[in-house]
Amino acid sequence: MKDILAFIDAAIELENTLSGLYAYFSNRFPDDFIFWDQLRIEELNHAALLGTIKNLSKVNLFPEGLVLEDLDAYERNIRLINGNMNEPDIPDRKAAFEFAYQIENSAGELHYQNKTLQENPDEITRIFITLNGKDRDHAKRILAYQSPESTRI
Ligand SMILES: [Fe+2]
Repeated sequence: MKDILAFIDAAIELENTLSGLYAYFSNRFPDDFIFWDQLRIEELNHAALLGTIKNLSKVNLFPEGLVLEDLDAYERNIRLINGNMNEPDIPDRKAAFEFAYQIENSAGELHYQNKTLQENPDEITRIFITLNGKDRDHAKRILAYQSPESTRI
């Protein structure tokens, strides 16, 4: 039997780790504080929501496909994030945007993201999407925020 609880815990750890990265970015780049701090809060919300609905897995009601069934992939990403929270790896704000975009498009985050966009969701997934609210589209928002048209840059 696959250990769905272990996958959910790994997913929660990834969300918390990513929240930590955004806290780091918000402190490193004060001009972008509001942007990174908002993402930090949303990642914490992702972790909390996963924790809230974790017990659904015990009655086989956890939304199908919400977490990646690959502990190694989660661990790789968590290590990568933790290993990049330093000036040599993130020399400037451009590098911060690029790294955040890369992580938001990586395995575990993408799973979560895709679930928030699922069309014709089943009942449980619909509730998940409602609870997740507007805390989504991170990759898109990172691109939009740093685009040349953005007045912030
Ligand atoms: Fe997330």
